[in-house]
Amino acid sequence: MLRNKQQYAQITAIGGYLPTTRRTNADLERLSDTSDEWIMKRTGIKERRILEDGLATSDMAVEAIKELCATYQKDITTIDALLVATSSPDMPMPSTANIICDKLDLTQVWAFDMNAACSGFLYALDMGAALVETGRYKNVVVVGADKISSYVDTTDRSTNILFGDGAGAVWLEPSKETGVLDALLLSDGKGIEYLNIKGGGSRYPYAMENWDSTHRYLQQDGKVVFKNAVTAMSQACQSLLDQNGLTVEDVNWLVAHQANKRIIDAVGKELGIEEEKALNNITYSGNTIAATIPLCIWEYKNQLKKGDLLLLTAFGAGFSWGASLLQWNI
Ligand code: UT7
Repeated sequence: MLRNKQQYAQITAIGGYLPTTRRTNADLERLSDTSDEWIMKRTGIKERRILEDGLATSDMAVEAIKELCATYQKDITTIDALLVATSSPDMPMPSTANIICDKLDLTQVWAFDMNAACSGFLYALDMGAALVETGRYKNVVVVGADKISSYVDTTDRSTNILFGDGAGAVWLEPSKETGVLDALLLSDGKGIEYLNIKGGGSRYPYAMENWDSTHRYLQQDGKVVFKNAVTAMSQACQSLLDQNGLTVEDVNWLVAHQANKRIIDAVGKELGIEEEKALNNITYSGNTIAATIPLCIWEYKNQLKKGDLLLLTAFGAGFSWGASLLQWNI
């Protein structure tokens, strides 16, 4: 049984933004000991977009929200809550959500950031949906945005191949019929050492003595993350389907966090979902952290039909992971 809600939060508009500058595999061949062939075979990525110096996560989020408003004729001034999922805020404070509001001339908005790394958008979507379901908020915008290139060592082939910048946004409104149906979101600190950016927080502030310069970069043990990602996303999806009395046959589209094409394929295989149902846009965007899921749906929006059931799943630092079920209604 799908959870019976008095009121659903429904996605009524979606927008996205990718920077124009491309970092291709050929660029990476010049920066580190790697090859286009290896990267394509092991990740499915051909290029990533990189935001120029001087611009920040909020600038991409603003573009994504403006694109959404222009495409779906939404009035920006009616936004009453803004949630921003990001691991690369413009600055430690104030929140990137605040900065976005300032850029959009919004002064009466409940706005803050959430950091659940690559799972951030799913966490924020669940939170945004809950706000709508209470009846207290009617136009809630949920953004996933990351300028993760600020933390990538361009000479480190274990990370430079994967990550790129981008932003995606959805607009949530109340509906009596359908929308965000359910979510299962989890976290477990056993993953902290396998994927992190240590520097710049209160434990390793930039001004500390004996500053370790590697702390400014994203570090990961790719193999450990890979294995955990496949198991955790598959299990979360299956549990969420089970608790709603559904099977993979009911799912029209699987939208997995775009970390590595092999991870997306492995999750699809584990769940027994046909390959054509698993959306992917990783080849030309790479892993954009909190932005991958909204960006992927945005790119495929013309293929989605009203009433389609979408199963979303993500995995990231923490570890944090989970799955969401929603019925498309645009
Ligand atoms: O968003 C969530 C966060 N991140 C992820 O989900 C990422 C998860 N992990 C991955 O995507 C993969 O583990 C990577 C793409 C990072 C690495 O792929 P892999 O298939 O796990 O490669 P590996 O580390 O097992 O390395 C295999 C071989 C090694 O050589 P030997 O020991 O077999 O001779 C590496 O030294 O490939 C070598 N290698 C490379 N060669 C060319 C590792 N990285 C590269 C590279 N270019 N970039």
